Amino acid sequence: MKIDILTLFPEMFAGFLEHSILGRAHKAGLIEINLVQWRDFTLDKHRKVDDAPYGGGAGMVLMCDPLFRAIEALKSADENFPETQVIYLTPQGQPFVQSIAIDLSEHAQHLILVCGHYEGVDERARILFDREISIGDYVLTGGELPAAILTDAVARLMPGVLGNDESAVHESFMHGIFDHPHYTRPEVYRDMTVPSILLGGHHAKIQEWRYERALERTREVRPDLVEKLGQK
Ligand code: ADE
Repeated sequence: MKIDILTLFPEMFAGFLEHSILGRAHKAGLIEINLVQWRDFTLDKHRKVDDAPYGGGAGMVLMCDPLFRAIEALKSADENFPETQVIYLTPQGQPFVQSIAIDLSEHAQHLILVCGHYEGVDERARILFDREISIGDYVLTGGELPAAILTDAVARLMPGVLGNDESAVHESFMHGIFDHPHYTRPEVYRDMTVPSILLGGHHAKIQEWRYERALERTREVRPDLVEKLGQK
């Protein structure tokens, strides 16, 4: 998969892409991530990407032309990735959930993530977007952190990115509920013990215990998820 991130602040991604699992996947060529400077698609000497809103009011609006040029250039840049999805990160988008990450990891070949700023993009540029996604009901200063979050959530689901030790199959949300509790050595820590069932080696009983605990902790914090499970 190729992910192009269109941003005014490519430097913001440096540490994030170089380290940990994502950095390894990037270096190993399992995913290709390109940081693309939005201003490179301007035609004026000031590299201007925004202007004041028609009708007045505070803030600036990202202009159509640099954005249209950028998307057109990125879409036609590589014939190995003919199918592109353009995603705009905005608090007005569809809520980002695990099922979207799974869908993108399974079906998308090439993503262009557009990191908005200021008051957002000129309304006429929205025809460029296949999807608009929000990472939550709060407003950030720009789409960079949301793009990083989406990239992380999608990339870790790509084949080969997680090793066996980090498998995504059994974790939170893969079954619509939270993950079960985990314990590691020592067996007793400050009088707190590991549940005895985990020490017994009875695989089926352990699975059952884990499922019950996962359900229990989901019910406590997110009863809506448990209800959805019952409706399936
Ligand atoms: N840009 C600013 N806030 C955002 C949010 N919550 N989700 C996606 N993009 C954003």
